[in-house]
Amino acid sequence: MTRRPRSWPDQARSFIGYCLSEPLYRLFSLAPQWEIGLSRHEISRLTYRHSAMAGRRAIHLSDLHLDRYQPRHDRIVAAIEGLHPDWIFVTGDLLNVPEGLPHLFRFLAALRKIAPVFVTLGNHDHYSGVPIDQYCELADRDKITFLINQTTFIPIGSGEIAIVGVDDPSLHRADLSCLPPSAQNRFTLLLAHAPNILDQLEDHHEVDLILCGHSHGGQWRIPGVPTFWLPPGCNGRIDGHHGEPGRKLYVNRGLGWSFLPLRLNCAPEIACIEWIPEQVQPKN
Ligand SMILES: [Fe+2]
Repeated sequence: MTRRPRSWPDQARSFIGYCLSEPLYRLFSLAPQWEIGLSRHEISRLTYRHSAMAGRRAIHLSDLHLDRYQPRHDRIVAAIEGLHPDWIFVTGDLLNVPEGLPHLFRFLAALRKIAPVFVTLGNHDHYSGVPIDQYCELADRDKITFLINQTTFIPIGSGEIAIVGVDDPSLHRADLSCLPPSAQNRFTLLLAHAPNILDQLEDHHEVDLILCGHSHGGQWRIPGVPTFWLPPGCNGRIDGHHGEPGRKLYVNRGLGWSFLPLRLNCAPEIACIEWIPEQVQPKN
């Protein structure tokens, strides 16, 4: 694991983010049942072509902001169990305050009973003040793989998947030197919290698919009004598919909330990814 030195603007942003979000989370934790627009999740179906990965299925979650385990988290676990994934990927903003750790790991441990879980960190995970070592200790206990500027390889049939997890790109913590070179029959998956990872890739970086979150899909969508809330690091990418040939990027709307426990016309999202053989036309 590599940890990048932080510039003073990033440290200032972390401090301001902490000062803004922490009191609001504490305020709303006094009435945890007061959540609007979060109780019903949607399942997005994504299909990609790759010979070695054909027949595999994965779940992508993001932006859990899980400070308090709610009944909706049981429903999310049940829905994921019904999808029978091979892997579950979580792209950061796991919690907001340190008191969320037992709630977060209750959820991650439930996911781990379904399939191997791979997790990256987001900006709020750093704002929370929880040390990286503490995340890693708890992850080891529950057999969950945290990838913080690290890569792991899993053999699949005649090929392999390289799962690369980088630290939060919006705080300039992502270290792309952990990306492996391309190889025959290797699918390289990059997990990164913020979509601006796409702008940080250089020509020699080989990636098949990037999974991100961070945007919350705008969180509040008013018909006829352009998205007015997007955190730094989205670079205008609100949700769905982005990228360019050979560098596909998917932005997940996430499951939780920032600042106000309210999502308007922007349901929490579970993305279900399926791989099909090269010669079959994908659905999306
Ligand atoms: Fe978030």
